[in-house]
Amino acid sequence: MKVTIIGLGYVGITTAVGLSEIGHDVLGYDIDIKRVKELKKGNSPIFEPGLDELLKNNIQSGRLDFTTSPEEAIHHGDIIFICTGTPSREDGSADLTQVEGAAKTVAKYINGYKLIVEKSTVPVKTAQWIERTMKLYLKKHTEFEVASNPEFLKEGDAIRDFLKPDRIVIGVNSSKAKRMLKELYKPIKAPIVVTDINTAEIIKHASNAFLAMKISFINMISDLCEATGADVELVAKAMGMDKRIGKQFLRAGIGYGGSCFPKDVKALYYVGSQYGLNFELLKNVHEINESRIDVLMSHLKKALWNLKDKNIAIWGLSFKPNTDDIREAPSLKVIKRVLQEGGNLTLYDPVATDNMKRVYPENEHIKYANDMYEALKDKEALVVLTEWDIFKQADLEKVRDLMLTPIIIDGRNIYNSKKLKKLGFEYYPMGRPA
Ligand code: UGA
Repeated sequence: MKVTIIGLGYVGITTAVGLSEIGHDVLGYDIDIKRVKELKKGNSPIFEPGLDELLKNNIQSGRLDFTTSPEEAIHHGDIIFICTGTPSREDGSADLTQVEGAAKTVAKYINGYKLIVEKSTVPVKTAQWIERTMKLYLKKHTEFEVASNPEFLKEGDAIRDFLKPDRIVIGVNSSKAKRMLKELYKPIKAPIVVTDINTAEIIKHASNAFLAMKISFINMISDLCEATGADVELVAKAMGMDKRIGKQFLRAGIGYGGSCFPKDVKALYYVGSQYGLNFELLKNVHEINESRIDVLMSHLKKALWNLKDKNIAIWGLSFKPNTDDIREAPSLKVIKRVLQEGGNLTLYDPVATDNMKRVYPENEHIKYANDMYEALKDKEALVVLTEWDIFKQADLEKVRDLMLTPIIIDGRNIYNSKKLKKLGFEYYPMGRPA
């Protein structure tokens, strides 16, 4: 099938690559000339395991191309996916100007029936706004429909999630739209849930908010464990063995970041409030997540007393492993707080360093290391903020010997307390006995 993708950010690129991989003829469109130029050459602007290879293969096979021409883009696809950004506004609501812009572009260049599918995470009733925008800006009567097909990709696992999803959700108003989207996803073996459009939009927001709630819940329990000397890892393990609860997303620590959970929790809270509903639960989810930084900072101060002029290393800058994405990463907040208190930082991440350098260029208080061990030389504490495998597998004797004082503040609970103690470390995990 002929498909157009509007917006070549994280979701757009992965969707374009995924749909071409399963045999469709895909054209990606973005206004960013540099981005499109690089994509045409097979260079992805995002770091995602497995993506580069599929991008190059599908370009070579002729099933995938990119353009900055809106006319070419809209003429190409029978199905047009809107994958533009939906950032948070000051009040927490989703800023839907880019989605509106995409709808206006479709209206301007439409040349026959199009199924316009929203894939970006959007508040319920956004499809109605897309439909209204289309009608307002259409110059002559042309058939079109709007549908919702939310994405559930996780960064770092996006290709696998696309090709082997737990479920595919399609929200449609007509049997034609349903038929087209079922046909599109035919090569993928996964249950398809067909709903009306409002329901599909809510499914996406509710899924993300629920996962964020699970994380904040276990972090709340983590604080109780810390206060009482209990072990949150064991609490989570035993809770997760109950199939009704499930073991995933019960990892306590520094909390959730990224471009989705923080934004979606706030946006869904806003939507609920707009309808006069009590969505305070989501406010608590957000507040508990924010308080993770205070907990980690209290560990750091417990260990180092005053942070002024202390030399501290941070391992892990991305919001989670296998991505270079630092949007809403806990590292941003920790770095800010340590600098405010007069500490000196040396930062290391296997792939996110360049992104962090744009936010915090090197200066006398902030340095970047090229090697994870180099970052530790003469440091008074190591703070772990992302659970990259290389950190889990670190040579801990080497770590100890390099540091001035062997203290580890572990925001992701990746080390074994007993082992560290034996090696002579002072260890501060989250919600576990040290
Ligand atoms: C999330 C959802 O998992 C996807 O299903 C969804 O499609 C995506 O948002 C989106 O809306 O685009 P993502 O943000 O890529 O995916 O990453 P997750 O793996 O969900 O992790 C989010 C954050 O939660 C990370 O900072 C991670 O470290 C944290 N987390 C996760 C925990 O603190 N504890 C856990 O147990 C699990």
